[in-house]
Amino acid sequence: MKYLKLCRFEDLNDREPQHYQVNGLDLVVLRYDDNVSVLYGRCLHRGALMSDGYVDGNNLICGLHGWNYRYDTGVSGYNNEEVLHKFSAEIRGENVWVDEGEINTFSIKTYSDQHVI
Ligand code: FES
Repeated sequence: MKYLKLCRFEDLNDREPQHYQVNGLDLVVLRYDDNVSVLYGRCLHRGALMSDGYVDGNNLICGLHGWNYRYDTGVSGYNNEEVLHKFSAEIRGENVWVDEGEINTFSIKTYSDQHVI
């Protein structure tokens, strides 16, 4: 496990999705109270950036066609089989850290799945 500093926790506004990219992979980062959630940043419907969406109740809503995902788990309310991957993340001191190895592994799998002929 190799943790990478993603951002300062205080730079995140409560329940306001924020876009980050690690090694080319889009992430959506959401602070809620004293917690943070780091999810795959592209909607599973048509790939919109989830950071362009908004929070309603416990859900992160895609700004394009309204698919919703629990921001604490990534699970879709429409279909529980649809899940935005939730990455391991920790708040340590002032910063949010993510597991770079997990992100790289996810990127390779996602890229492979999209380019199978
Ligand atoms: S791209 Fe997100 S709901 Fe369609």
